[in-house]
Order: sequence, then C-alpha cells, then structure tokens
Amino acid sequence: HSCGVVIVAAGRGERAGSHAEGPKQYRRIGGRPVISHTLDLFVNWQPARRIVVVIHPDDAALFEMARENALPAGDRLTVVHGGTTRQQSVLAGLEVLEKDEISHVLIQDAVRPFVEPAILERTLAAFSHGARAVLPAVAVADTLKRADANGNVAETVSRSGLFAAQTPQSFHFATILEAHRRAAASGRTDFTDDASIAEWAGVRVHLVEGSAGNVKLTLQKDIAMADQRLSHGLP
Ligand code: C5P
Repeated sequence: HSCGVVIVAAGRGERAGSHAEGPKQYRRIGGRPVISHTLDLFVNWQPARRIVVVIHPDDAALFEMARENALPAGDRLTVVHGGTTRQQSVLAGLEVLEKDEISHVLIQDAVRPFVEPAILERTLAAFSHGARAVLPAVAVADTLKRADANGNVAETVSRSGLFAAQTPQSFHFATILEAHRRAAASGRTDFTDDASIAEWAGVRVHLVEGSAGNVKLTLQKDIAMADQRLSHGLP
C-alpha cells in the first residue's frame, strides 16, 4: 500500500484553556510539543509516502518550532491551512494528497501522540483483507449513564457492543475523498470524525483493536498526565 497521512492540527483547543504555549497540540510534553511526538511516529513509519499537516494560519511559527523538535521528514512533509471545523481541515489535507497517487490515507488527530505502530499494522492488515474504512476503537469499560437536565441519572445505557473511536482512521483514498466532498457539498460541516462521514456515505467501517494508551489530549489534566508519562520514561 502507498499511504498518505493527514495530521489535523488546526483546532484552537479551547477545552484545555488558553495558554502561553498556544493551542494544546503545541504544548510541551516530555520537553517537546505534542505534535512533534505525533509527527515522529509517522515519519518513522515506512509506508507513509507523504505527510500533510493541517495547521491554523496563526500557528505557522509554532509549527516551525514543533517541526524542528521532530525527526526530519524532508520533502515528505507538506503544510496546509485548515478550516473552521475539523471536517473542513481534513478535507483541506485530503485535497493536497490527490496528486500523489496514493492508495490509502490515515487521518490522525495531532493531539493523539501515543499511537502505537501495532495499530498501524492492524490497519494495513485490514486493507489487505479488502476493508475500505478502518477504525481503531476500544470497548467501553465503564457503566454508562444518561443524565437528565437536572444532573440526575435518567437511565443506565447498555455498554454491550459500544466502542470508543480513536485515530488514525484510515481509508481507501478515493473513497474518503469523494465522501468528504459530497458531505461538504451537501452543507454538512460538523462531522466530528471521518468514520462517520464514511458511514454517512454508505461505506462499511471495519473496527480494529485500538489501545488504552492511545489517548486524546483534550483537557489541561490530559496534558499534565501525558507529560508525567513521558517524564517517567514510559512509552
Ligand atoms: O476539537 P477536537 O478535539 O475534535 O480536535 C481534534 C483534532 O482536530 C485536533 O488535533 C485539532 O487540532 C483538529 N482540528 C482541526 N481544525 C479544526 C478543529 C480541530 O484541525 N477546525
């Protein structure tokens, strides 16, 4: 497989609170920006022919600094500007890859710096078995409650068959590009992940095992925990 990678990093990261180091993908964990860790993983991954990083126009200087703190990617790396929503940022990245004649694309949140190579291997294996859309996910472990408007439990929701979706979400390239273009043309801009666009377009999405360590850094405490994890030499 010849793979492209889109790393989306154009968000403002408001849930982590404002911070002098900028949005959460540029905050330092283990002494380096979050996105530098994410980038290293794909730079090290042989099947990645091209890596497109989607940034916010205001973050050019922050990204340059992050790039200097990552492994050299040479001319495999392209930087483009994102949009107002994650969905728009992903499409901007996919458009760049169109000329590259890649067969598949992996779409990764910059704020997930702990992807394991095993997840990438399971993804490639699923492609080899004919999957057009692959989603790493972990079974939900907690008992789930739906709350009412007063903050009381309205009901217990069965967790049977429920999975939490992670990234990279990976696709046959032409399939997801077309689905994204159709979603945008239909006026939808609010899909929060790419698997849901594939589902919307009628593409079957194959689940592979994610990992508990492949966390998304959303809140301030997530960044603090990730920093601890790296500072203590854990993988
Ligand atoms: O906002 P959310 O947590 O879903 O963001 C997930 C990823 O998508 C982050 O890496 C963020 O930088 C990216 N994103 C983006 N463009 C946006 C919004 C989010 O690239 N407009």
